[in-house]
Amino acid sequence: MKFLFTFFVLISAATSSSQCPIIPTPDHFSEHTGFFTFSDTLSVKADGLPAGAKDYLSMHLSKRAITLVEVDGRADIQFEAVAGKPDFSYKIHVDSNAVVSFYTPEGAFYAMNSFLQLIRNEKTIYKIPKCSIRDQPKFGWRGLHLDVSRHFFSVKEIKKFIDAMALYKFNKFHWHLTDDQGWRIEIKKFPKLTQIGAYRDSTVIGHYSDEPRKYKAQRYGGYYTQEEVRDLVAYAKQRFIEVIPEIEMPGHSRAALAAYPEFSCTGKKQEVPGLWGVFNDIYCSKEETLRFMKDVLTEVLELFPADYIHIGGDEAPKFQWEHCSACQNVMKINGLADEHELQSYFIGEIDAFLTQRGRKIIGWDEILEGGLSPNAAVMSWRGEKGGIEAAKQSHYVVMSPTTYCYFDYYQSSYDSEPLAIGGYLPLEKVYDYDPIPDEIPEEYKKFVLGGQANLWTEYMSSMDHVEYMAYPRALALIQSLWCFNKPDYRSFLKVYLRFHESYLKLNDINFARSVHYPDLKIARVEGGIELQFLGSNANEIFTVKRTSMVQGIPEKVTNSNSDKHMLFSKKAHDRFELLSDQFDDTLVYDFYTTKDLGREIEFITPPHPKYDHNGSLNLVDGVWSGEKFKGSEWLGFRDTIIEMIVEMNDSDFVEGLEIGFKEDNGSWIYLPHIVRVYVSDDKIQWKEILRGFDIQSGINKLNFKRSAANYFKVEIKPLDAIPFGNGGAGTLPWTFIDEIQFIRN
Ligand code: ACM
Ligand code: ZN
Repeated sequence: MKFLFTFFVLISAATSSSQCPIIPTPDHFSEHTGFFTFSDTLSVKADGLPAGAKDYLSMHLSKRAITLVEVDGRADIQFEAVAGKPDFSYKIHVDSNAVVSFYTPEGAFYAMNSFLQLIRNEKTIYKIPKCSIRDQPKFGWRGLHLDVSRHFFSVKEIKKFIDAMALYKFNKFHWHLTDDQGWRIEIKKFPKLTQIGAYRDSTVIGHYSDEPRKYKAQRYGGYYTQEEVRDLVAYAKQRFIEVIPEIEMPGHSRAALAAYPEFSCTGKKQEVPGLWGVFNDIYCSKEETLRFMKDVLTEVLELFPADYIHIGGDEAPKFQWEHCSACQNVMKINGLADEHELQSYFIGEIDAFLTQRGRKIIGWDEILEGGLSPNAAVMSWRGEKGGIEAAKQSHYVVMSPTTYCYFDYYQSSYDSEPLAIGGYLPLEKVYDYDPIPDEIPEEYKKFVLGGQANLWTEYMSSMDHVEYMAYPRALALIQSLWCFNKPDYRSFLKVYLRFHESYLKLNDINFARSVHYPDLKIARVEGGIELQFLGSNANEIFTVKRTSMVQGIPEKVTNSNSDKHMLFSKKAHDRFELLSDQFDDTLVYDFYTTKDLGREIEFITPPHPKYDHNGSLNLVDGVWSGEKFKGSEWLGFRDTIIEMIVEMNDSDFVEGLEIGFKEDNGSWIYLPHIVRVYVSDDKIQWKEILRGFDIQSGINKLNFKRSAANYFKVEIKPLDAIPFGNGGAGTLPWTFIDEIQFIRN
């Protein structure tokens, strides 16, 4: 086969001299000529700074061996509190000294963290670019969540997590304190919650979906005493971070029910589980349980001054409630139509309790089901729909959709990524996030308080690993939460690489290097596809363009600007492996030759945004996902019927379809029930040519009568619902599809 192959190297001509080094990018930054330089001492005039702020500054400067001395007169850094506005804005003007002005303690703190990011070292000389900065935050809720139930982190580690948040101007720490696998907060009235509920006897090894499941039979757990909680809340407050506690109800309550089975529907004694997932046993909705919850919250309110108290509300299967006479009785007495309304009743009771005490509830978006409680705010995680719906009902909303904000997902496809739950959320995708969806009408946009990333820790057992998952993605997210005008991704990436990897190191924060690995981008071109390897620096872009298919692909593609190169090695007749020898890691893609490479496909059913990597091209890019599942390889659908139309040529005779499916029931991914193929020349009249049952995991070869037509329609029918007894039972399963190719002889 004859084919063409061209190769370009793109080099960025952009200079970086006027880059603002601060993340999140300030509202206004102008750089002047020259630097303010100093050796190892800075004098400070700290009038009007909040208590502890000078110590904070001094501690951070000491990391660079700079000593801070307080003076009365003119100083190297002069902090000036200005009366007038109660907002969080600040200004910094650096010339022959630095003048920092602010209205509120928060403003001073944000200014201080910006100032710290301006300092550069050159041997024993320190310098700060002469510049003017004006800045203020866009959103009031800039959150990070941490699950301490699946894995436990010490107070010292949580403080480290909070320190990192403060450096980047996050202001809400959502502390997920209770879940099935461990209750982590001392409640004096119910000591068994921590005596029993804080410990499990085993923990599942590997991924939840691995078969057979294996367990590490070792007692695991821990909890925070009330004194430790108070200390932590005060520590965070000094850094202008509010701690939002989460006490999960009515689901994710197995640890509490292990301690007090009388608050379940069955009363049956069960252990604290060592397996992740969603469990049928939840709190019973009877009066005694509600009283217990209110008693727990009474102690929680004394520890946490935050306005909002998170009550969970997610993933509560209604199975036990349907079979519990006490729950059915509550429904009858209160005239509730179904178990969703019963959940709303449960949450409503807690809402009233918290509202009477001057607090507000916030819960995961399931609290919309069965009717939203009058004062509740919604944290939208299953996409943005819940948030949009709540905002339209004039309820406050925090956006935290899995697609952009779940930092427990993989951040690259490289083999070196540590085991994660699944999903694919690279830095660039986080960066794209805008917490205000277009679907919210203008007058309701004010109900979006901000956004938050979540760190669920099933697969993170150390703070080092938590930080690896959080950084640098948290820096991409804070850009969306802080900046009124965030720069484009490439500009952000340059600033990040130039200044912030060293800053993270200076502050002893672990971070992923995934962004350094080249990202393979595949695009359609006339008659085929184009490959581009996009590295983190502009001079690492390798563009490989081909207008025909793979045979004869060169063994080596070298960046003409350096001796870095990519290797292609031929593995089999029509299969190529792409290797890279320039990184510590290997990226292996299997390419198949196929006549359908880059073929146009029209989706009647679009993929779910969470698993829509490269759209329909994903199905005809010559890359077969095989066993890989880091979220970017597969197209995921969650619909009752999936239809797509493939453009063919009526002279091209085909006699079957190859189509790949994934099965991973633990991740709610199921094989379809049936695949049908239809043909048409006009896209109006369709004729069925295949009805394929018994679909297998992997590539399916489905043969049909030799046919030619302008259009082939592939129609995939998933199961109606996930079968009973499995995770997600009763809900629509995911369908994961990869390469499709028509069989010709
Ligand atoms: C959630 O991720 N279950 C809120
Ligand atoms: Zn019950």
